[in-house]
Amino acid sequence: MKSVGSILLFFFSCYIITVFSQTIPITTHQPQPNQSFKPNQTQHQTAGAGSSSCSYTVVIKTSCNSPSYTGDRISLSFGDAYGYQVYVPRLDDPYSGTFERCSTDTFDVYGPCTYPICYLYLYRTGYDGWIPESVTVYTYNYQPATFYYNTYIPNGIWYGFDFCRGYVSSTTTSAL
Ligand SMILES: *[C@@H]1O[C@H](CO)[C@@H](O)[C@H](O)[C@H]1NC(C)=O
Ligand SMILES: *[C@@H]1O[C@H](CO)[C@@H](O)[C@H](O)[C@H]1NC(C)=O
Repeated sequence: MKSVGSILLFFFSCYIITVFSQTIPITTHQPQPNQSFKPNQTQHQTAGAGSSSCSYTVVIKTSCNSPSYTGDRISLSFGDAYGYQVYVPRLDDPYSGTFERCSTDTFDVYGPCTYPICYLYLYRTGYDGWIPESVTVYTYNYQPATFYYNTYIPNGIWYGFDFCRGYVSSTTTSAL
């Protein structure tokens, strides 16, 4: 029985290693700079005038490698594969201790209703070098979307993730 057990354990280990080695390439996407990304400022302004119809909860974790305190200015934009976009020009507020090392900040954000979110970018300017760990967007009608940074964001460029390619064809039927 002992040898049967160890054989099973061996195959189980092989299975686990195989499963994990297959999922690692999916979960280790690194954020990228996107020089051509421009948030739609018009959309933000009209949203403020009352055409906004969806609310989102954005949870941002600040890395434990980040400075203890930051005066950096931080903006956020995310959206879906169909052109619906949410843009939040400024999230930072050093006076309330936002984005301190190892902290979690929660924001209620309003904007157009989106289909599943497939891109998210952060924009940082300042001298402190704030380091996010992750950004999660909660919406009422879809699974929350989490984007893992764990890295320094260069100054003055939209920096993040775009998984939208191929998204439209594979989700059209299930999303609608
Ligand atoms: C950069 O942003 C543009 C505009 O949203 C998008 O079309 C493009 O695919 C993005 N580039 C990358 C490399 O994700
Ligand atoms: C920006 O948003 C406005 C208002 O929703 C829309 O009319 C316009 O087409 C958008 N522009 C782009 C480039 O997506």
